[in-house]
Amino acid sequence: MSTLISHTPIWQALQTHQRTLTAVHLRDLFAQDPQRFVKYSLSACGLFLDFSKNHLTGETFNLLLDLARKVALESRIEQLFQGDNVNNTEQRAALHTALRNHSQYPILVDNKDVMPAVNAVLAKMRQFSETVNQGKWLGYTGKRIDTLVNIGIGGSDLGPLMVVRALKAFHIQPLRAYFVSNADSTQLAEILADCNPETTLFIVASKTFSTQETLLNAHSARRWLIEKLGTPMAVARHFVAVSTNTQLVQDFGIDTANMFEFWGWVGGRYSLWSAIGLSIAVMIGMDNFEQLLAGAHAMDRHFASAPLAENMPVILGLLGVWYSSFWSANTHVILPYDVALEHFPAYLQQLVMESLGKQVTKQGINVDYATCPISWGTLGNNGQHAFYQLLHQGTQLVPADFLVAIESQHSLGEHQFAVLSNALAQAHVLMQGRTVAETRETLQVTGLQAEALEAAIPHRVFKGNQPSNTLVYQKLTPQVLGALIALYEHKTFVQSVCWGINAFDQWGVELGKQMASTFLTELKNTKPSQGYNSSTDGLLNYIKTRLV
Ligand code: F6P
Repeated sequence: MSTLISHTPIWQALQTHQRTLTAVHLRDLFAQDPQRFVKYSLSACGLFLDFSKNHLTGETFNLLLDLARKVALESRIEQLFQGDNVNNTEQRAALHTALRNHSQYPILVDNKDVMPAVNAVLAKMRQFSETVNQGKWLGYTGKRIDTLVNIGIGGSDLGPLMVVRALKAFHIQPLRAYFVSNADSTQLAEILADCNPETTLFIVASKTFSTQETLLNAHSARRWLIEKLGTPMAVARHFVAVSTNTQLVQDFGIDTANMFEFWGWVGGRYSLWSAIGLSIAVMIGMDNFEQLLAGAHAMDRHFASAPLAENMPVILGLLGVWYSSFWSANTHVILPYDVALEHFPAYLQQLVMESLGKQVTKQGINVDYATCPISWGTLGNNGQHAFYQLLHQGTQLVPADFLVAIESQHSLGEHQFAVLSNALAQAHVLMQGRTVAETRETLQVTGLQAEALEAAIPHRVFKGNQPSNTLVYQKLTPQVLGALIALYEHKTFVQSVCWGINAFDQWGVELGKQMASTFLTELKNTKPSQGYNSSTDGLLNYIKTRLV
């Protein structure tokens, strides 16, 4: 599309419609239509979505679907799945769906079916993970591996970290896993202090194999291992690599027989399904990893085939566009009521903000509408005692997603009733609020009267009207988790299509990396730095004189 979507009649119709809805409280929408829950909920791939607590009427829904048609969403989904160059600024496909293509239909990249290569790497991952799990992968001194350390950052860390944590109940004993990502040596040093060099296996995970933090950590871990085991020969038994760059893996000193390949058409933040998920495969076993892929594949099929009005990622994506671009909602909060999902909000931050934090369209035209919201969140139950105050009585519109497991990974009597009742109560109260009249009535019962009563009311009123989605699943299995992650991947894609932006590049991270390399030289140069600006020069020089 060469013109901005905001200049089309459908966009303007949504703007006009939004103005008519600002005066309507969500509780009124429920009062007007007892069928809201039935109308605005659906199931797919083990997930149940209630999206009825949104600023949405039948008219809104139809207009949003018109927007989807206007941007030719269905054919854009087709292009994504068939391996077109959807990532136009890097001239490549974004084929994370091929990595979990359990239907095995051929997917062509440069006229070549990628499925045989995908299957070959999966087979290699199976063989490796089974060897480790059966205690047959021995360290240099002949001991079985009991500790994995994944060294990576961004997509080479957040996805595996999130999934390995989420599926702890499926871990194969006696393995334990650590994740090192930060350049601050404290992280690696603290982890190494817990590791036995004879039984530790490092997985160096980096798509490019040139990421500063990852290489720093990998080199330091290698030095530690050699120092502890007394010989560089030990590296071959304690280091494997996951990358697209064979040459750099070789240059690092890892035997390419111990390298797990993936491809340029897998984006970093979409890569946990590839060999980047090796730590997952080892920790939960390859059969469970395949279940994770199967769950994602089921969501892929749903996304590719369900009509727009019954398509879960499409609905979530359209609602995301609705709030960012039409309701000026600057943020979107993720609230899992499932401890297993404790790293899910952090994982989503990269998925959402690296994909959608863009200011120009695919054609390089500046947008004149808001795109990506700030994605944030934490475990809902903990958030209640921290930031929910703002959600209930602050001044901002904050759309929320509640993620609710009916069953916990570990059942301990009453706990799950508390979890579920809290999740339901919060979504309810955020939507419903408590009016002045209701507040007065409640306070009168406590005995408050006259001036004291009137003074107390404003502080106890809940405006409500905060929209939310509630996603419910029975229990977090590998399959359900796969579907959940794929749901958010596709939601993100839907938003990118509506906004006309490329969800698969990340040029915004480059300038900082380049400047860091300049400042690395500055910091090592004892001469005073000058010529940047007084703040940067001042800070460089302040720190330089104190470096030990
Ligand atoms: O700097 C951002 C980024 O390129 C992410 O997109 C990516 O997931 C991360 O760095 C790590 O990159 P790599 O896997 O190449 O080390």
